[in-house]
Amino acid sequence: MTRGKFITIEGVEGVGKTTSIAFIEDYFKQLSQDILLTREPGGTPLAEKIRDLLLDARQTSITDNTELLLMFAARAQHLEEKIVPALEAGHWVICDRFTDATYAYQGGGRGIEISRIASLEEWVQGALRPDLTLLLDLPVDEGLKRAGERSTPDRFEQEKQAFFERVRETYLGMARAEPQRYRVIDASGSIEAVQSRIKTVLDELTAP
Ligand code: TMP
Repeated sequence: MTRGKFITIEGVEGVGKTTSIAFIEDYFKQLSQDILLTREPGGTPLAEKIRDLLLDARQTSITDNTELLLMFAARAQHLEEKIVPALEAGHWVICDRFTDATYAYQGGGRGIEISRIASLEEWVQGALRPDLTLLLDLPVDEGLKRAGERSTPDRFEQEKQAFFERVRETYLGMARAEPQRYRVIDASGSIEAVQSRIKTVLDELTAP
């Protein structure tokens, strides 16, 4: 059995991740490619409970280290219970955010040392890394404007613009450092324009 591909989708708030993921799901369905769509933090009943805590705006006492460890606690559960078995069964896993979000938000955003995140990554994931990461990219003020038009802000969405600027810079830095794994998608313009950029990347990935 060939191991399935592991694809992650990343981006700062308001870049259109949800719409893009629906398009990606549809793309694979049309190819009859067996996929598992999941998200982080979350993806299993226990990890979704951890997500609720992490996103709850009333949880004002969560420290940076607690936040980091909760992200990896949710990830450890998600990996063992869902992601790894699916990949081993040959399914392709599409994950809405993964460890790059930890580097971007807890590392870039909160300022936690990268070496701490790297050692948790090593511990929880071993050698497992995404095969492909799509980074939807948009200037932060545009994304925040789009996100602000939606529901009440969660604990992360309450952060200031400078926080998200550091998150975006960290993502772009990782994309520059790992061009073979990363594809940066310009998320500006119409939904159709963004989807056509995503389609080009997926066509390349699925080409025989
Ligand atoms: P979203 O995926 O629904 O946009 O929301 C999840 C939030 O959690 C988002 O603000 C990014 C944040 N997050 C982290 O800070 N670190 C992580 O490792 C992950 C997976 C998400």
